[in-house]
Amino acid sequence: MTATAHDRDTAPGITPVHALEEENGHMTTAVGIDIGGTGIKGAIVDAKTGELRTSRIKIPTPAGGEPDAIVATVLDLVSQLGGVDKKTPIGVCFPAAIVNGTTMSAANVSKAWIGLDAEKLFEKSLKRDIKFINDADAAGVAEVRYGAAKGTKGLAILTTLGTGIGTALIHRGNLIPNAELGHLEIDGIDWETRAAFSAKEREELSWADWSERLQKYYERLEAYLYPELFIVGGGVSKHAEKFLPLLRLRTPIVPAVLRNNAGILGAAALASDH
Ligand code: BGC
Repeated sequence: MTATAHDRDTAPGITPVHALEEENGHMTTAVGIDIGGTGIKGAIVDAKTGELRTSRIKIPTPAGGEPDAIVATVLDLVSQLGGVDKKTPIGVCFPAAIVNGTTMSAANVSKAWIGLDAEKLFEKSLKRDIKFINDADAAGVAEVRYGAAKGTKGLAILTTLGTGIGTALIHRGNLIPNAELGHLEIDGIDWETRAAFSAKEREELSWADWSERLQKYYERLEAYLYPELFIVGGGVSKHAEKFLPLLRLRTPIVPAVLRNNAGILGAAALASDH
């Protein structure tokens, strides 16, 4: 599938790169790919500053979210970015718990991902070693390096509200990977199915009704984990003023600074370290 001009977000002031940059034998320019249940996004990133170096390309996730179709879409996206050669580091983030490159779960993609050596699959098609990480964890890494969690001293919890709920635990700047707290059960229900942004859209909930569901969720997280800060990411974070003020929490809660680009930036940053 080819991205149309419409899918290419315009990013003012961003100069496309056609050459790789290297510092101390370390690539500072890397590709970040963020695979979601609805869309696959990618851009070339300056891992030193956390800025996008190209506009972001977004392609809808192939229906059914099957492994081969997703891998083919990622390949297509990378070729559309331009300027990516065989030395360019690539980081890919994915909506599942990932242990040693294997996808352990699949809430919003095909169940064929469960138990799959997905990192190898991407490496085979992209013809290089990649960094492969959970999508919320990538966003958490980006927020701690470049955004809202920078300088936090205790536990910061990043939550992404999108097709599902992704969570990243960052303790004193270090990621504790694969926290799947979006699936916390409240009243016997996997709460992601009630409180993700997709639930608001599906059920046409008002901001006030949706925020009651978020209240139950964040209240539970703060009761169990005593975080210092909640960071709210995902596309809906650009409307943070509509729902964050409705929450009654003892923990400060702020929108992600990097908004919906956090996954791309975190995946690219880790690939550049790799
Ligand atoms: C998945 C997580 C993912 C989150 C956001 C959840 O359904 O289980 O791994 O981080 O969605 O995409």
